[in-house]
Amino acid sequence: MSAKVIDGKMFAERLAGRLKAALSDFSAQVGRKPGLAVVLAGCDPASEIYVRSKVGMAGELGMASIEHLLSADIGQKELLRLIAQLNDDDAVDGILVQLPLPKHIEEAAIISAIDPDKDVDGLHPQSSGKLVSGIAGPVSCTPLGCLMLLKSELGSLAGLDAIVIGRSILVGKPMALLLLNENCTVTIAHSRTRDLADKVRRADIVVAASGQAEMIRETWIKPGATVIDVGTTRVVRDGKKRLLGDVHFGSALTVAGAITPVPGGVGPMTIMTLMHNTLLLAFRRCGLPAPALW
Ligand code: GUN
Repeated sequence: MSAKVIDGKMFAERLAGRLKAALSDFSAQVGRKPGLAVVLAGCDPASEIYVRSKVGMAGELGMASIEHLLSADIGQKELLRLIAQLNDDDAVDGILVQLPLPKHIEEAAIISAIDPDKDVDGLHPQSSGKLVSGIAGPVSCTPLGCLMLLKSELGSLAGLDAIVIGRSILVGKPMALLLLNENCTVTIAHSRTRDLADKVRRADIVVAASGQAEMIRETWIKPGATVIDVGTTRVVRDGKKRLLGDVHFGSALTVAGAITPVPGGVGPMTIMTLMHNTLLLAFRRCGLPAPALW
């Protein structure tokens, strides 16, 4: 048996088509483009690549994107001042502060300072509270992209056993809540979880976000399970730069029912869901009904 490979790039391109249509509708009604502000402090190479792709995609779709590239030694007060300025700027609909921030900055304080109506990452405590309560609000981009792929693959997720490996505020926790809201029975596994392989083997849905390259092999996977790989570890193998997921793709293909590749699975969805969230916030901020986009 060979698993179906879930094409995140194709799904993201289809979503881009719907976003473009809604975007021109927004611009026609409001007289301006939706605006996304992206803030990067420091020069972490992976973050620089992500930010470049996010800003590039916003431009490609026809959004206004404002990039703030700050030095790694920016002070917390100065960063808070920038956030306040972006909160007050009417042309900015979404604010994304790229994580991780430099060590001397308190991430939680920065995230909490973002106007919840512009919280494009869904990380503000008000947004995570809404997710816990099952109230519509911005949802963190990567888990939202994973959910879109899962629903397009499986339809209803109700009653399925899901395991999320990783408990970060960006991926693991919101992913688990999204799956719970879809009526899955959810296990959240992390670095202290015992008998991880046994727990993964019981799952119909595996969302792997541990950051451990190729940790999950075919012997861990229930036959026919749907596997979503969030991992992106950069390595050099046989003299070539490669991006590896948390799942050993080659062996998992022989057991899973469907699986996302790395690259080309979750990655393109993360960028497109950021565009999706920006557009939804723009509609909401202007008092317009938010269109259904997926
Ligand atoms: N760093 C890695 N992924 C993300 C993301 O989705 N949002 C933010 N703000 N930072 C990140």
